[in-house]
Amino acid sequence: MSHTETSGLSPRSYGRLYPMRLDSPKKIGGIEIRNRFIRSATAERLFDREGFPDDGLGEFYCRLAKGGAGAIITGHAFVEPEGRASPKQLAIFKDDFIPPLKKITEEVHSYGARIFIQLSHAGRQTKSKYTGGTPIAPSAVREMTLDVLPREAEEEEIYRIIDGFKKAALRAMEAGFDGVQLHAAHGYLLNQFISPHTNRRTDKWGGSTENRICILVEIVKSIKKDSGDSFVVLMKLNMDDFIDGGLRLEESALIAGQLQKAGIDAIVCCLLNRVIISNSNIKN
Ligand SMILES: Cc1cc2nc3c(=O)[nH]c(=O)nc-3n(C[C@H](O)[C@H](O)[C@H](O)COP(=O)(O)O)c2cc1C
Repeated sequence: MSHTETSGLSPRSYGRLYPMRLDSPKKIGGIEIRNRFIRSATAERLFDREGFPDDGLGEFYCRLAKGGAGAIITGHAFVEPEGRASPKQLAIFKDDFIPPLKKITEEVHSYGARIFIQLSHAGRQTKSKYTGGTPIAPSAVREMTLDVLPREAEEEEIYRIIDGFKKAALRAMEAGFDGVQLHAAHGYLLNQFISPHTNRRTDKWGGSTENRICILVEIVKSIKKDSGDSFVVLMKLNMDDFIDGGLRLEESALIAGQLQKAGIDAIVCCLLNRVIISNSNIKN
């Protein structure tokens, strides 16, 4: 219904039609958020070259919390060195990152806001100078914007990555985060597994919808098993590749349902995807 169609309604009828108030609390998983204002994950570049946050990051998040944000989602943090996307990026691949992150979560919580860390692996969407070797991906499909030909991940590497996400989530829990957001959008590794364009595998990690989301299901289950119910697991999910042979909206809706069954507490649906940009000039 458009604004013009509803503008003749009394506030009471309008409230009945649209009962949600942006300033009302909302429960996600086992926790309550004080309102509906959630700061979307945004890489701030307030980090050093290793991936440690500088003082500016905590100060920035505190300003958001003081300003009334219900929750903050950090920019993407890489879960293992091979998954680094850029030279200045937040990291969470070893325990050394816990103390500075804990300082940030304590400060943000003191202003009444929740905070989630976004966990990510770049897959093919990075450069070997950042990862220390040829970037890996579900399949060796060239990334056109960076002109990177990744190599196909071995099965044992897939298990290592699943473990990397789980360990990163447990570090996040120790650092006081209310939960994590798994980055399965914007053309990064988890998105690459879901999309039939970037995932051409013929083993248990590729092919059917169930196989392409297998890595995600394994990650979610392993985090939930070790973190308990009150630790929230969110997901940012790309919904459509806008190319033939790519991920389409209808399949994404099914995927969202299956991920909910696996234990995901909430999904951010996203349509921004570098798969589209990076393949605009190729026919494969
Ligand atoms: C500077 C900048 C950095 C961003 N960094 C991230 C990021 O680290 N992780 C992420 O999922 N999205 C990132 N985004 C995307 C935003 O979270 C958001 O999805 C995007 O701006 C589109 O907004 P919408 O999702 O509300 O449509 C970034 C956006 C900008 C402008």
